[in-house]
Amino acid sequence: MDSNALLISTNLDLVQFYSINLEIFVGAKVKHAKSLEEVLALFNSLEKVDVLILHQKEMEESKLISLLEEQKKANKFSGKAIILGESKISLEGEGNVVNLQATSSLKEVIQGYAKLTGITAKDMALAPVPEFYPISKNYLKNLKSIPCDLYRAADEAASPDKMVKIEPPFSDVFNNNSIVSCFVPSKERLKFINAYNSYYLSEIMAKSGPDPEEQMVYADHLRVQLTEGLIQFGVTEASVVLAETGLKALNNIVSQHGKLNSLLQGMLKNKTGYLYRHSVLIVHFSDHMLKGLPWGTAEMKEKLTTMAFFHDILIKDDNLAQIHTNDDLKKMALSPEQEKTVLNHAYRAAEIISHFPNIPNGTDVLIRQHHGMTGGIGFTDKLKSNITPLAKVFIIAEDCADFLLSMPEHHLKKMEGAMIRKNLLQVLRNKYQSAQYNPIIKTLEAIEF
Ligand SMILES: [Fe+2]
Ligand SMILES: [Fe+2]
Repeated sequence: MDSNALLISTNLDLVQFYSINLEIFVGAKVKHAKSLEEVLALFNSLEKVDVLILHQKEMEESKLISLLEEQKKANKFSGKAIILGESKISLEGEGNVVNLQATSSLKEVIQGYAKLTGITAKDMALAPVPEFYPISKNYLKNLKSIPCDLYRAADEAASPDKMVKIEPPFSDVFNNNSIVSCFVPSKERLKFINAYNSYYLSEIMAKSGPDPEEQMVYADHLRVQLTEGLIQFGVTEASVVLAETGLKALNNIVSQHGKLNSLLQGMLKNKTGYLYRHSVLIVHFSDHMLKGLPWGTAEMKEKLTTMAFFHDILIKDDNLAQIHTNDDLKKMALSPEQEKTVLNHAYRAAEIISHFPNIPNGTDVLIRQHHGMTGGIGFTDKLKSNITPLAKVFIIAEDCADFLLSMPEHHLKKMEGAMIRKNLLQVLRNKYQSAQYNPIIKTLEAIEF
């Protein structure tokens, strides 16, 4: 099931990230080249390149194209490629190239690879693996913590019965040049990769420059990783790191953009999904509402941002996150398992955040109320009056986000702010006729685009 991949990139962080994930999820043996000379050397040393992955390249593209053509003729290159970002390269044969954006998610790259090779992550999960899985030391060195037991082989054959457990700190092993790889129990390798990816994404976010659009894309990848990790492994050290980074990014993105129109246009430039976009917009709208309410405080702002980040964190699918009423739920015809996830997500998210440090007090109560009733299970057709005022602000902010995200993108690009504000106010006043919502909705009369 193994295949050979040649990754051309000058970004070494990304090379490690793709290499380990492609190996674990689709069995790719990834070799890496930065220059034309290295590409040629690798073609000479490998039997055949099954998939070329082209990311950043500091080489003349025309020379690369002719090199690839030669290798294809010599039967050393399959002609299949994943191209990330702009490139003039086109390869013959239908379905031989997967074109992706430079900031595509890991999931898209893995899916592209699976499509080209016919090896799916499911095949890999079912394929027999030895009891211990080798992990190159390069991947281990930068991890802040390792989420499973770590072993080294006592003999060259790496016999499972001769594995020696290593205790932290691992510096002796990491500094020992004769040890190239360590081992994790194979059944724990997905937990390991989740932690690896979490630290990688947190580092990238911490390093990432001033480009808020790119930050938004990475923040969305980070949210996906956090959700996957929480569903599969519960709260781990890696998820705590992800949540801290994610919350910081959410705050940064909203404050960097300032005005709503700038935030919206920023979003339209990238392919982040509903789940991330709606959280960003909820923060923007709820900040605005709190500023206009006489009782709004900075602590409340922190609570609502935390809530925006966590409230749907156990939902993987954009469509499921858009279910807000019993009617929506009926229309979706979900599997029993999906239905259970949707019905319980507020309750379970509230439970989960109590395991995270530094969460503002009472955020769990608010999360449980984000569908308009106190228990956190299911939906209500009429908002209950016993939910807290802050939960009411959140619910209206989410309605504002939904209103904008349901508009066709070309309308959002062109439509005038005054018109959008007028329509939004009308929708909200029709929906919330009880007087207790008036002061909250009234703050939106002053929202600027
Ligand atoms: Fe939501
Ligand atoms: Fe929700």
